[in-house]
Amino acid sequence: MCGIFAYMNYRVPRTRKEIFETLIKGLQRLEYRGYDSAGVAIDGNNHEVKEKHIQLVKKKGKVKALDEELYKQDSMDLKVEFETHFGIAHTRWATHGVPSAVNSHPQRSDKGNEFVVIHNGIITNYKDLRKFLESKGYEFESETDTETIAKLIKYVFDNRETEDITFSTLVERVIQQLEGAFALVFKSIHYPGEAVATRRGSPLLIGVRSKYKLSTEQIPVLYRTCNIENVKMICKARMKRLDSSACLHAVGDKAVEFFFASDASAIIEHTNRVIFLEDDDIAAVADGKLSIHRIKRSASDDPSRAIQTLQMELQQIMKGNFSAFMQKEIFEQPESVFNTMRGRVNFETNTVLLGGLKDHLKEIRRCRRLIVIGCGTSYHAAVATRQVLEELTELPVMVELASDFLDRNTPVFRDDVCFFISQSGETADTLLALRYCKDRGALTVGVTNTVGSSISRETDCGVHINAGPEIGVASTKAYTSQFISLVMFGLMMSEDRISLQSRRQEIIRGLKSLPELIKEVLLLDEKIHDLALELYTQRSLLVMGRGYNYATCLEGALKIKEITYMHSEGILAGELKHGPLALIDKQMPVIMVIMKDPCFAKCQNALQQVTARQGRPIILCSRDDTESSKFAYKTIELPHTVDCLQGILSVIPLQLLSFHLAVLRGYDVDFPRNLAKSVTVE
Ligand code: F6R
Repeated sequence: MCGIFAYMNYRVPRTRKEIFETLIKGLQRLEYRGYDSAGVAIDGNNHEVKEKHIQLVKKKGKVKALDEELYKQDSMDLKVEFETHFGIAHTRWATHGVPSAVNSHPQRSDKGNEFVVIHNGIITNYKDLRKFLESKGYEFESETDTETIAKLIKYVFDNRETEDITFSTLVERVIQQLEGAFALVFKSIHYPGEAVATRRGSPLLIGVRSKYKLSTEQIPVLYRTCNIENVKMICKARMKRLDSSACLHAVGDKAVEFFFASDASAIIEHTNRVIFLEDDDIAAVADGKLSIHRIKRSASDDPSRAIQTLQMELQQIMKGNFSAFMQKEIFEQPESVFNTMRGRVNFETNTVLLGGLKDHLKEIRRCRRLIVIGCGTSYHAAVATRQVLEELTELPVMVELASDFLDRNTPVFRDDVCFFISQSGETADTLLALRYCKDRGALTVGVTNTVGSSISRETDCGVHINAGPEIGVASTKAYTSQFISLVMFGLMMSEDRISLQSRRQEIIRGLKSLPELIKEVLLLDEKIHDLALELYTQRSLLVMGRGYNYATCLEGALKIKEITYMHSEGILAGELKHGPLALIDKQMPVIMVIMKDPCFAKCQNALQQVTARQGRPIILCSRDDTESSKFAYKTIELPHTVDCLQGILSVIPLQLLSFHLAVLRGYDVDFPRNLAKSVTVE
């Protein structure tokens, strides 16, 4: 949930100011992951790194506040140059302990800052560890679980059996005591110019930049044999010596820079050469060389980590001419949906090929049922496509909220196929549901927007939705691309069903015209802005519909509540008379989604029920719908497409409405309070 960024310049001289700028920029790119406080740890002395002193600067609030604070530090000469330096930085989204400077990261081992650490995730056994450390005389200053890690590494260091213990060995011993999820980066005065990073359940990658050719494109992973008595927490490991061939280093004068981050958006402007760490990998940089080791074999059992080349462009993650990332992402949808289909839908032959699924198609066709699992917007994408998936696959389709699915210990069988929908690919509930289904032998399929994410790596196969980076916390373009990806899956499954051919052709034609129709919907922006001017002072907003457009209502209401802080509810029109009708009067703003589809007549009934109670509905309807408009207080007319794709067009006015409402109410659209983009805690 938080953002981790760290930067090492090894034999690449950098002034302190340049180091600050790199760290702050890295944090700004990650701010969407959490933004209630931020901090850095850098070398505090004004000379070489060998002089032991770590300076911590931490501030409540956004990264901007930290940036201002850094320049207020009288003790730090900005012009001083470091040939080698390692700085760590963090932007936080509070899980344990209120947002405050003392609870923000880096957390430290002691007042002398011997060890400092930045952390993303949650340590579930931190209370036991804290009790143990307090019994040994360690004094805690924050309410965080992370501080336990900083104290624990000092404890292991203080109780080391040999003087020459390596930094990575200390970290290895620490993580053996940790339960929960984490990505961690450590810095220490005892290991100047060295870095250690590790992860379990939270993402972490390392970027490498050097003007020299790297000595290898694959980093072999060393497995160490250990003999550790966990219980007493007194570490007596017998290690194999690290083999120097396991190190990545630049040839020549070995000048090299390393960037550690929770995701690629913070690294891409420096380098596109990255290594994705796997759970329990311990990556260490010493003398400018990167090595990776682990105690047990990895899930993938891959004996090396490749240095991969990222294809992401920096301008893909910049705001352009838009006032907010969310707005930019809404307007990108003609392009993002096209990219989702590109190279997959053949409009000439009416065929669809999802490369990541083709080898598993036979198995999927034989399955007992499909279970589609996600959280929030990703779950809504599953709700939106359930009916068309049932129709095209002729299989029972369950849609599940990941957290509820786990709470229920839902029965899952070997012949189930489970889909995990996640923009970030890191959502903890979805990831846990994936592991749960995997343990029960089901085939697992990832539908994600993030290459190299945990969900994309841990599933048996998958579809990358190709929507491009989504930075705004409120998900928009990922929803429409998830929607299309699931429809494409249905089309692929039904390719040889004779009885479904004309339906398939109708849907494929619909897909082809979507980018143009989305452009037409986006032209309604001004009209929707005017509607927002009428509504922005309201406390509540109901969104009602049924059938293919029920998901539109859920998703529209979620967008409205998360960024405008208005109460908003997505209501199934069929349920109106079972309770929600009591809310209707002439004051209550109601949006109704009524499309020319098989539910049209039933939606007319709901419309009558609303107007009979003096309700004044704002109706999202098809352009050729003269009937609904007679009863509308206002209409927003949309182009018509095939029924099962209409939800892609009908959600966009609600995305735009939520955006304008939030701006008019004076809120920061990209950083809604209490929320984070990537929810890596349960
Ligand atoms: C809402 C929103 C969230 C996410 C949810 C799942 O706008 O963004 O509801 O959809 O947290 O996130 P992913 O898709 O990353 O698993």
